Amino acid sequence: MALNALETLKTLVSFPSVSTDSKYKPALLQTKDFLVTSLQSIRFETEAIETELHPIVIAERKVKGDAPTVVIYGHYDVQPEDPIELWDTSPFEATVKGDRIYGRGAADNKGPVAVILAAVSKLLEEQPDLPLNLKFMLEGEEEIGSPSFKPVLEKYKDRLKGDFLLACDTGSQKSDQIVVTAGLRGITCFEFKLKGPNKDLHSGIYGGAVLNPIKALVDICHSLHNEDGSVNVPGFYDDVLPVEEWERGELKKLGIDLDEYQKFLGVPGFFEQKGLTPLEATRYAPTLEYNGVWGGYQGEGSKTIIPSEASVKISCRLVAKQDPDKIQDLVIQTIKDRCPEGVSIEFTKDHNGTAYLVVPPEKPNTPADLNPVLADAFKLTDALSSELFGKPALYMREGGSIPIINDIKEILDLDSLLIGLYLPEDGYHAPNESFSLEMMEKGQVMIERLLTGVAAGD
Ligand code: BES
Ligand code: ZN
Repeated sequence: MALNALETLKTLVSFPSVSTDSKYKPALLQTKDFLVTSLQSIRFETEAIETELHPIVIAERKVKGDAPTVVIYGHYDVQPEDPIELWDTSPFEATVKGDRIYGRGAADNKGPVAVILAAVSKLLEEQPDLPLNLKFMLEGEEEIGSPSFKPVLEKYKDRLKGDFLLACDTGSQKSDQIVVTAGLRGITCFEFKLKGPNKDLHSGIYGGAVLNPIKALVDICHSLHNEDGSVNVPGFYDDVLPVEEWERGELKKLGIDLDEYQKFLGVPGFFEQKGLTPLEATRYAPTLEYNGVWGGYQGEGSKTIIPSEASVKISCRLVAKQDPDKIQDLVIQTIKDRCPEGVSIEFTKDHNGTAYLVVPPEKPNTPADLNPVLADAFKLTDALSSELFGKPALYMREGGSIPIINDIKEILDLDSLLIGLYLPEDGYHAPNESFSLEMMEKGQVMIERLLTGVAAGD
């Protein structure tokens, strides 16, 4: 029996596979088991590889003789459901309303994983002798930076060889305009804590004599950006790859109206960076962001203290050619240099991931060694986008990160075809996440036809 995308997605959403929260470990295992069973049901040789954290599902369909090999990537973990009170339906019970299906992970990335499984299953049912090798790598740690994946790639390097990687874990701007993501941002995450007095102090008795850790934290953070919006860390921009004219051209073709975009986001204005439009800034420039800040009294009303400590979580999104370790060192050193006397500082490092970039065929800077099977797959994607969605695909760098994509390039030498099935309305990572049923249906046809075309060498 062929796998049905909607039913598969409903089951996937029913498992609360939140990778960051250890209480959900059993749900990650259930999701893994369901994927193993699903892949085995369509006759893939399937194995779940144990890791220190969450297992990686690897599955393979091998054909006799010479045939192209497509390696498919997806992740079965999701972001936390928090804040639960803002959900209109239960996050872990998929609910169809109108032309969308709601639930945590309905889009990111369970929706597309279900779409690809259904497409492959239907295709192989219709063409059991399709001359195409297929491999799946489905991980459960993407949303926490894939800490266990790299060693698995190293260990199974020979088994995971192929012509290119196919994934649908990125977005398109509109349902009639498929975006192929040609670049992803890298990331480095860390936090620091400033410690002042050995306990909270009465702000009347000691205020004026003791440096307040929150003031010190705000001063340091304030110093990390310039007036023009750029990051004020020496060396931060040294390795940033310049933007090519064709890339700006693709972005213009998207035709996004900035006023509408502003309304959609609900912001009173954009944070503008010199020389970059807001749409360019998210794709071509690195950032330094604050993801959380705390210290002192957080309850109702006031409490007159000088808190003993204050902390902040920082992440930098990075672009091609920036080395996350180097950038993390630079930013940490700068913060240390700017830390005033009167507080001590402690850093906690979190995960790092490298940016990724592939230049599709027929662009001014396409590498001569671009895999020919992938080059054809890009062209096929263009043709299928026109036929099924209305316009040829646009090739753009995107602001989000899938850190393992660059490791896959480095370790397996596979470039990626990243077809965007998410839409801005999906609200991934937010309450009431949803996935468009139209993207689901058309996406399935697109993947089926794409794989048929790759097998035929079109
Ligand atoms: N699917 C997203 C990444 C994405 C979304 C890329 C849309 C491009 C367009 C992925 O699941 C994600 O959220 N990644 C994290 C990675 C991080 C935790 C290392 C991200 O970008 O924050
Ligand atoms: Zn995500």
